[in-house]
Amino acid sequence: MKILGIESSCDECAAAVVEDGKQVLSNIVATQIPFHARYNGVVPEIASRMHTEWIYSVVEEALNTANLGPADIEGVAATAQPGLLGSLLVGLNFAKAFAWARQIPFIAVDHMLAHLYASQLTDVEVSYPFLGLLASGGHSIICRVDAFDMVSVLGTTIDDAVGEAFDKVSKHYGFGYPGGAVIDKLAKNGDDSAFDFPLPSLHKGQHRYDVSYSGLKTAVINQLEQFRRKGTTASDTETANIAASFQKTAVEILLRALFRAVKDTGLTSIVAGGGVAANSYLRSRLAECRELRCIFPPLNLCGDNGAMIAGLGYQYLARGDKSPLNVVVSARVKAFKRPYR
Ligand code: KG4
Ligand code: ZN
Repeated sequence: MKILGIESSCDECAAAVVEDGKQVLSNIVATQIPFHARYNGVVPEIASRMHTEWIYSVVEEALNTANLGPADIEGVAATAQPGLLGSLLVGLNFAKAFAWARQIPFIAVDHMLAHLYASQLTDVEVSYPFLGLLASGGHSIICRVDAFDMVSVLGTTIDDAVGEAFDKVSKHYGFGYPGGAVIDKLAKNGDDSAFDFPLPSLHKGQHRYDVSYSGLKTAVINQLEQFRRKGTTASDTETANIAASFQKTAVEILLRALFRAVKDTGLTSIVAGGGVAANSYLRSRLAECRELRCIFPPLNLCGDNGAMIAGLGYQYLARGDKSPLNVVVSARVKAFKRPYR
């Protein structure tokens, strides 16, 4: 079954064709990053306008690359949540129109469930249950996963998401946008023990598997103020050291919560997803844990893409689920068992 997947929740305008939930026939990602970079963050109005301008050609390219025409597509999946409402509307409505015009099934899917599915678009066999580690610009979630659509949230962030912390630190230091990949690269030449940034202690009411990034973010930004007060700027070495020390602590925060969940649940299979799953330090730290089986999506499927939407969409459509054409978008996740912030 060949499924067209459309993703437009944030700043990537993406479409892909995936066969039987596994084989990626095409995966087109048109990034808007250069258009938002000068604002150091995504401007929702610009994002939705660009999706509107690009979506037709992106879908056309996905079909052409797969050597298929509209008549070959047997189902359409699109992201309905979470994300920027104006952006989501563009992809979702395009998908509805495509499905209606071709009279084929349509399914609206959750972006975070799709990130969790991305690892399955390879030859790797993923068996349930496992612990999910979802780390992106908007979310940091540790969850127990019993099926592609059965996810119980164990922990989440009580303030900033991990990717957001990378982006905000990068913005203050002027490293560039988005910050994750830039800091990952800078950190490779740095000493990660040069700066001792604090690990958060568990706050009252906070769950054992919850994470917090606002303290770390503030500490790293305050370090910049110290350079400024002295009338100096960070040297190249100091910059790399700051990036490495921040990255080490940011990853440590995630891993501390994840390892608690491993200990308590006895689950030793971990599946990661989301833009931050591309982080080389996170990947190497988990690769070192011989007692765990850690599965990461390939790098090109960590960030937002249409293939993960098509893959997840297939799973629903194959068992006969469909969405009505009046389904609406939502800024927040609704698919998970415990609602999260
Ligand atoms: O999943 P994604 O593409 O979009 C959202 O759903 O949010 O994730 C984007 C986030 C951004 O915060 C970006 O800085 C971060 O993923 N990111 C990384 C890396 N590559 C992207 N964070 C750390 N290390 C990376 N290599
Ligand atoms: Zn995402």
